[in-house]
Amino acid sequence: MDDHHNRKILFNEESYKKLKNYLFDNQIDIGNLFILVDNCTNKHCLPILFSHLNFLKKSKIIKIQSGEKEKNISTCIQIWKNLEIFKANRKSLIINLGGGVITDIGGFVASVFKRGIRFINIPTTLLGMVDASIGCKTGVNLESIKNEIGSFYCPDLLIIDPHYLKTLPKKEIISGMSEMFKHGLIADKNFWINMKKYYYQMDNKKKNENQWNHLIYQSILIKNKIVKKDPKEKGLRKTLNFGHTIGHALESYFMNDSSQEKLLHGLAISIGMICESWISYKINGLSIDDYEEIKSILSVLLYPNPIEKISNLEIDIDKIFLIMEHDKKNEKNKIQFSLLKKIGICSYNCQVPYSLIKESILQIQKL
Ligand SMILES: NC(=O)c1ccc[n+]([C@@H]2O[C@H](COP(=O)([O-])OP(=O)(O)OC[C@H]3O[C@@H](n4cnc5c(N)ncnc54)[C@H](O)[C@@H]3O)[C@@H](O)[C@H]2O)c1
Ligand SMILES: [Zn+2]
Repeated sequence: MDDHHNRKILFNEESYKKLKNYLFDNQIDIGNLFILVDNCTNKHCLPILFSHLNFLKKSKIIKIQSGEKEKNISTCIQIWKNLEIFKANRKSLIINLGGGVITDIGGFVASVFKRGIRFINIPTTLLGMVDASIGCKTGVNLESIKNEIGSFYCPDLLIIDPHYLKTLPKKEIISGMSEMFKHGLIADKNFWINMKKYYYQMDNKKKNENQWNHLIYQSILIKNKIVKKDPKEKGLRKTLNFGHTIGHALESYFMNDSSQEKLLHGLAISIGMICESWISYKINGLSIDDYEEIKSILSVLLYPNPIEKISNLEIDIDKIFLIMEHDKKNEKNKIQFSLLKKIGICSYNCQVPYSLIKESILQIQKL
């Protein structure tokens, strides 16, 4: 598969051979190769990468702490300083080995270091594989404002190897599945149906491995096709934001509130998708049957419901709304939503009255 810049998206084990050829063809000196990892990917994923390409052991490893809270400009400065200490130059290459935090931050670091150096993404979380590493958006958060600082900058190669998922905690798998379900909802009803079938029998892992790998492949295909048609998010790409207007605001709200446990991105997006499906039903022609179907699947992913932990939701909805108003995707001071018409068909640039946003969040309390 190629991305919108005709760069390669490679799958499974043979991709390591191609990575080796790429390094050779581009005369990348091993001393000029940097691998960015976090605590977890250093422990679980780096040995897998080394088992495929032993010579990478001689590259320089830059390690950061795991987690969304590290996705900020201070961490970038720490990485840039490391690159300086290791004498990186304009021919250096960074391999980002990790989840969406690593690929977002590593891509951003590469995009501005010496006005741009090359990088390769090897996502190791499901969310990273099917979403964060596809589409060339890089960036960091500005305090609690998600992805406020960033750039469009593409990796030279993207390697998808589901073997990395074997050590990923189940809640992270569920978080990634939310984005896969989203791909079905906005663009492909058959994919939604196949995801549903898979979800109900997913604990029988061995038997389903091929099916699972194929779903990952198809999910990437859907996102890649949308990005290819609209790389700079002028229109169609906005459909990928379905569930994210409310979802991102909830994610930031939970990040701001130290008394609350952090809400995983995918779970925030599942709540957002239920809310925004409700709004789609109210004002965008989505049938009540489609809404009920979406709610029934996504609410299972959410169990136990994190919204139940908000003690005074009526009051805190205003805080959530304020965060939504700051979203950089707003235009002409209006909050813009992507809303479903049917399962598999999505509209964008929809405006929604405040009362309906509030109603949609309040009904999440009683899932
Ligand atoms: N750029 C984009 O287009 C885009 C799209 C969607 C999401 N994102 C961003 O992606 C981020 C979320 O990504 P994420 O869910 O991958 O989070 P993450 O990178 O924080 O990874 C989740 C956790 O899993 C650990 N981990 C990673 N791989 C592992 C493995 N194979 N085994 C065991 N543990 C492993 C990580 O250390 C971390 O603790 C958010 O910051 C979000 O904004 C970006
Ligand atoms: Zn997302």
